[in-house]
Amino acid sequence: MKNLPLKIGHRGAKGHVAENTLESIKKALELGVDAIEIDVHLSTTGELVVFHDFTLERLTTDAGEIAMKSLKELKELRINGQFEIPTLLEVLDLIDKKCMLNIELKGLRTAFETCKSIQLYTETKGWNFDGFLVSSFNHEELKTVFNINKNIPLAVLTESDLDMAKNFAQTINAKAIHPVHHLLNKKSVRQLQKLGFEVNTWTVNDIETIQRIKTYGVDGIFSDFPDRL
Ligand code: G3P
Ligand code: MG
Repeated sequence: MKNLPLKIGHRGAKGHVAENTLESIKKALELGVDAIEIDVHLSTTGELVVFHDFTLERLTTDAGEIAMKSLKELKELRINGQFEIPTLLEVLDLIDKKCMLNIELKGLRTAFETCKSIQLYTETKGWNFDGFLVSSFNHEELKTVFNINKNIPLAVLTESDLDMAKNFAQTINAKAIHPVHHLLNKKSVRQLQKLGFEVNTWTVNDIETIQRIKTYGVDGIFSDFPDRL
């Protein structure tokens, strides 16, 4: 049994090393996380790439939509002038079952390829479905995963409406609900857990808030500084 709340490295260990890079994920593993969260988009050549924003300008010297670029084009870019944009498969190979992986479906049309990758790694690389958690704000993407493979654990993200998240989570038999932390209190956490959901909350970085959120009895906390958890 793991100690709760689970320590979840947000975009790897974003507070220490550039977000959603293999180097950030390595750092999170070194810090002893229970799980790592990453965001994925689909490239024009069909690979899932690990990146948060829909557009490239905040983190690279290029601009425009990430979903309009081929993997080759994306591999030529450097995040903060230094790090490659990784593919989902590179992240899976790096983590290699050392912790759980929360794949947040950020881009559109990411569900199908995500299911394919999870199926591949459960069939050929010794991963269990429990080693994965697929989350999204996008209900259509989550429904698609649910329709393709009922073994894949799902989580519904929300930054505004716990009730709506809960109602939708019931329709896709989700394992967890992922609310932004300021939506929660002890009572709401308990209510969601009574309905059978795990509650993992984001993104909590300062020690005082971490302490307060822990008193709510959540199952997991996402942090850019997972060592503070
Ligand atoms: O998955 C938790 C959190 O990452 C959701 O928000 O914008 O950081 O992807 P964002
Ligand atoms: Mg995310």
